[in-house]
Amino acid sequence: MLSNAVNSLLLGLVASLAAPVSGTFVIQCYSRLFDERADPVVDPGKASNHVHAIAGGNGFNFTMNYDQARASKCSTCNVKEDLSNYWTPKMYFHAKNGSFINVPINGDTPGGDMGGQAIYYLTRSGPDNDKLVAFPPGFRMLAGDPNKRSYTSDFAGLAVSHKCIGNTNEQYSSLPPVKCPGGVRAQVTFPSCWDGVNLDSPDHKSHVVYPKDGNYDGGRCPASHPKHLVTLFYEVYYSTQLFESEWWSDKQPFVFSNGDPTGYGFHGDFVNGWDIPTLQRAVTDCVDGTPNCPSTHFTFHDQGETQACKLPSQINEQVNGILPALPGCNPITPGPAAAVPVSNCPVTKITGPTAASLGYTDLTKSKGWKYIGCGIDNAGSRTLNAAQTSGNSMTIETCVDFCKSKGTKYAGLEYSGECYCGNSIAADRAPQAGVLGNCLMKCSGNANEICGGAAAISLYQACAGGACTNSAKKRSRRLAAAERVKARIEGSI
Ligand SMILES: *[C@@H]1O[C@H](CO)[C@@H](O)[C@H](O)[C@H]1NC(C)=O
Ligand SMILES: *[C@@H]1O[C@H](CO)[C@@H](O)[C@H](O)[C@H]1NC(C)=O
Repeated sequence: MLSNAVNSLLLGLVASLAAPVSGTFVIQCYSRLFDERADPVVDPGKASNHVHAIAGGNGFNFTMNYDQARASKCSTCNVKEDLSNYWTPKMYFHAKNGSFINVPINGDTPGGDMGGQAIYYLTRSGPDNDKLVAFPPGFRMLAGDPNKRSYTSDFAGLAVSHKCIGNTNEQYSSLPPVKCPGGVRAQVTFPSCWDGVNLDSPDHKSHVVYPKDGNYDGGRCPASHPKHLVTLFYEVYYSTQLFESEWWSDKQPFVFSNGDPTGYGFHGDFVNGWDIPTLQRAVTDCVDGTPNCPSTHFTFHDQGETQACKLPSQINEQVNGILPALPGCNPITPGPAAAVPVSNCPVTKITGPTAASLGYTDLTKSKGWKYIGCGIDNAGSRTLNAAQTSGNSMTIETCVDFCKSKGTKYAGLEYSGECYCGNSIAADRAPQAGVLGNCLMKCSGNANEICGGAAAISLYQACAGGACTNSAKKRSRRLAAAERVKARIEGSI
């Protein structure tokens, strides 16, 4: 409920504050997949330099291609035809004692819901009324520069800004030097002129440029980059007001994950995962004032579906909560000189998903019960309704033992301290293949275990003979095997 209120607040702000943006449709990424040092554009195959807040299709991975994006089973964004990924650096509060604390994104809740980003698709065809083209398959790009620490008045500089929400809603190029009662909205506009050939480039930028005249989000494309794309504009609402009483010097205390306290180094990444014909139709049709655009062009996920679309962390490091340092090697670099990445930063291993990051505890040997995934529940009509118990010392073991004593086949844990037992699970409540679900809350009796979430239930089943295997694990192994086969096939072509 709380999340709905927060999200409608987000939508309200988007609607009321972004009025100058027209000829537009908005992809609402209500949620995000996870926060991780991952960046398949800039740092493919390895841990990236800094933590990103990552939204979009759950085909996202450390390396990925268009087919993997399209193979997503869900997305944190609301348009079903869009399985793209969108990411930006995470923001932290730098406390007086030196600790870094993650600044929640609007929509983050203790129940595991995550806020996301609003992605504007601006249909700006410039003074010559160019035909706008959809992003082609495999297209990706980066806007902004993580190492930038000073103001520049070129279009790339103007394309990054920060809005101080509340009072006068003033917009700054830097992070706002003043307290913002409604938080800070970090914003980046992408270049919209494409060379028409390259899907990416070594710096992930030079295949695209900002228009050569007019404005960074309008104007004419140069002859070198003649294809006019739809213009992407990202907005992320950071709840900086939660730290209002903790400012401790004459400088604003927020820093992006890349060690940037200035805000000039804010940036965004895009990997295309669209159904291209659908995007092209929307880009062509949804110009200023077109009625019912784009709702006639797209189908939509509801918020619950976007919240259930999570990814397991594949790097064993803490990125939320109170941290002694920014993850990776990211000292605070106030500029004005460009930040120089730390050269001898130790390599961080990608471990792959673990039982803990997949959200379960292995009880196959100790109790003969297996994890079958994260389903959904509804307080008005429980998914498991044969018996229930709750308490502030709940563990998965306690719940499984309780359901065993009631003789039921399933045990489910929810909202940290609730335990439900039952003998069947309706199909529309059951875990979905390839969708992790929104079970992220620690058990009230064991902070190392996951006990569901808000309207999300961690489900365990008695192994009555046969193999006793946790299904989240089984699935990821199968996926990995399929990926190995695919890699062999692609390698042999
Ligand atoms: C990402 O890649 C790893 C390694 O290949 C694999 O184990 C994992 O399942 C992949 N994740 C997704 C969401 O495809
Ligand atoms: C540092 O300060 C923060 C915020 O004031 C506080 O939450 C945290 O516990 C402190 N950390 C340490 C290690 O003392």
